[in-house]
Amino acid sequence: MAFLETETTSYVMKADEQGTLLHLYYGEKTGNDDLSPLIFAVSRGHMTNPAEMGMIDRSYSFDSLPQELATFDNGDTRSAGIIVRFSDGTRTGRLFFDSFRIEKGKYSIPGLPASYDERSDAETLTVTLKDVRGLRVEIRYGVFEKADVIARSMRVFNDSAEPFTIEKAASLQLDLCRSDYELMTFRGRWARECMAERRSVGHGTTAIGSKRGGSSLQYNPSAILCKPSTTETAGNAIGTAFLYSGSFLFELEQDPADEYRMILGIHPEVFSWRLQPGESFDTPEAIMTFSSSGFSGISHRFHDFINRSVIRGPWRDKRKPVLINNWEGTYFDFNAEKLTAMARVAAEAGVDLFVMDDGWFGKRDDDRSGLGDWFVNEKKLGCSASELGERIRNAGTAFGIWFEPEAVSPDSDLYRNHPEWAIAVPGRAPSLDRFEDLLDMGRTDVQDYLIERITEVIRETGAVYLKWDLNRMTTDRYSAVLSAETQGEFDHRYILGVYRVLEAVRTAFPELLIEGCSSGGGRFDAGMLYYTPQIWTSDDTDPIERLTIQNGASFIYPVRCMGAHVSASPNHQSGRQTPMYTRAVVAMSGTYGYELDVTKLSEEAKEEMRRDIGIFRKLYNTLEWGDLYRLLPPTDENATVWEMASKDKKQAVVNVVFHAPHTMRPLTRFYVEGLDDEKQYRVTLADPTMTTKLDRRCRTTFGGAVFYGRSLRTMGLFAPVSKIPEEYEAYQIVIEEV
Ligand code: DGJ
Repeated sequence: MAFLETETTSYVMKADEQGTLLHLYYGEKTGNDDLSPLIFAVSRGHMTNPAEMGMIDRSYSFDSLPQELATFDNGDTRSAGIIVRFSDGTRTGRLFFDSFRIEKGKYSIPGLPASYDERSDAETLTVTLKDVRGLRVEIRYGVFEKADVIARSMRVFNDSAEPFTIEKAASLQLDLCRSDYELMTFRGRWARECMAERRSVGHGTTAIGSKRGGSSLQYNPSAILCKPSTTETAGNAIGTAFLYSGSFLFELEQDPADEYRMILGIHPEVFSWRLQPGESFDTPEAIMTFSSSGFSGISHRFHDFINRSVIRGPWRDKRKPVLINNWEGTYFDFNAEKLTAMARVAAEAGVDLFVMDDGWFGKRDDDRSGLGDWFVNEKKLGCSASELGERIRNAGTAFGIWFEPEAVSPDSDLYRNHPEWAIAVPGRAPSLDRFEDLLDMGRTDVQDYLIERITEVIRETGAVYLKWDLNRMTTDRYSAVLSAETQGEFDHRYILGVYRVLEAVRTAFPELLIEGCSSGGGRFDAGMLYYTPQIWTSDDTDPIERLTIQNGASFIYPVRCMGAHVSASPNHQSGRQTPMYTRAVVAMSGTYGYELDVTKLSEEAKEEMRRDIGIFRKLYNTLEWGDLYRLLPPTDENATVWEMASKDKKQAVVNVVFHAPHTMRPLTRFYVEGLDDEKQYRVTLADPTMTTKLDRRCRTTFGGAVFYGRSLRTMGLFAPVSKIPEEYEAYQIVIEEV
């Protein structure tokens, strides 16, 4: 019996007498007694039994036993965790427990993202299973005690004398006995990513995934399993997230006898891996956590874990810059003079970093050409790369730059010189998306070209920030450097190539801040966060629509990773007009930046920008590092209310954004979490000048009234009511220990 224990959870497994590695339990910390009598095989009639049990016990069947790793074609008709095609074409498998070892610290995975342990919090359990045909599997469990997180991945070995092909290798399999579960996943599309969707689970398999090459705009590689009674702050839930940025499959199967199996891994439809004798293959890593305090418990554990054990480098701890990006301000229409003017205005308002987006290289005045030619277009900009960086710095901000490294325009010098680097099936014209093709990122010559170009441009311009974009999915899979038998490795090799280039750039410039992006949040996953400490959440910058998008992303990902900008009003995507402060409050529920032509702002708006940046700086620690509570979701009839409570319980900031029209609006009530019941707190507005806008009756409350933490939790607060309500108004309430 193996007990993996974290501060509040237990994960229990056992190898039975037949050598099957059974999963017994995952949930709230349990007693250290033998749980195996609780799991027994029951005959459900006409289930096959493994050979040695066939004449002994008709009830022993893989079809009903909860296992740590299920193989294929041995009686278990549920979805398998691993499928191997042996050299004779057979796929039948049976894994027997062989041995285990426990090591201090957390395992790492060469070439792939993996959580790490800096606080001596983790231990690794490796369990070895063997099949008689020479397949050996090591399941590795990284157990982070204080963080309450368990990471899991698998190393597959070929100990036989013949090559075999891995057709499926899940990173995580979790068999859960009879219960009632609901499932929350995060679906989307361009400009509408990460919409939380909670549903009851029916019999059969509920699956989400991506075969798009990247983790995708359509489904986020994460999920939460919960009980029907689970709420934001109460009830049981199991969360899982994938540290992988490629195609993935999440399956939740409820079999007809109401047993559950959860599987998360590389999508098997776009994956196979040929393993020669003596070789091994590592799956990516999945992480899981359990909470008995509802969704906020899942979020707090994952946020802290991603912040401390996934994100690396100086930006894990350092204060992030407030940036301005020129994309929505200029699109492709800019030169150095225009950019410098924008940087100057932004610097005066307190912005730290200016980011030059798409359009600075090759021949690129629209999205039909130039990708791949990563040389500064001096004619368009009116100066050299180094002069450009210099001019922006002289204007008062640091300099950052955009790339879309994986893409290539058919109309580019790179394509003309290296048509073999672009993805295409011989004899077929490839599909295009946004007029672009992709490079075969699995090729080392492609990776080396990109490393050389990116590092050179960073060196020339003195950039301290890089936005790594990707604006299409993978189709027409074929690589000239793979054999017919290994073409199934295309997708995974592509992502390994992306990771190699990212790692090389990080190593060359350890201080560089990289922001991930894929047409917005098309590759918003914990794998990217290992390389890019923040990710652009969505191309939709409308603050009201952002409430839903950021709300969904926040279940798994920390606020301080979510790229969020104040853009122009009317908004370019929705046409909606909103107050500048509302846009700022929503962006402050993310990394906080700007994306508009600030040279066109009125003096009053510039002054407001300065004031809002000041508020952000003052509240930074609580906003970016506090515990998030989604007090009212975007589906509330009036307002979305998010609270960030500092870990020392000294301060909480509550962001209230009214998303509904104001006529005769009922009062909005919420209950403040995460404070000390016995301490007293003063309630004010982050922008005290706003109190004069308020209705007389609530001016007293937000003008500095003092309440016990207990009262704020039990009695709650009512959102501010203004004398003359403004459409889409927003407030930031600061609750501070007296
Ligand atoms: C898509 C990104 O999400 C945008 O922010 C912008 O960088 C454009 N690409 C530029 O082409």
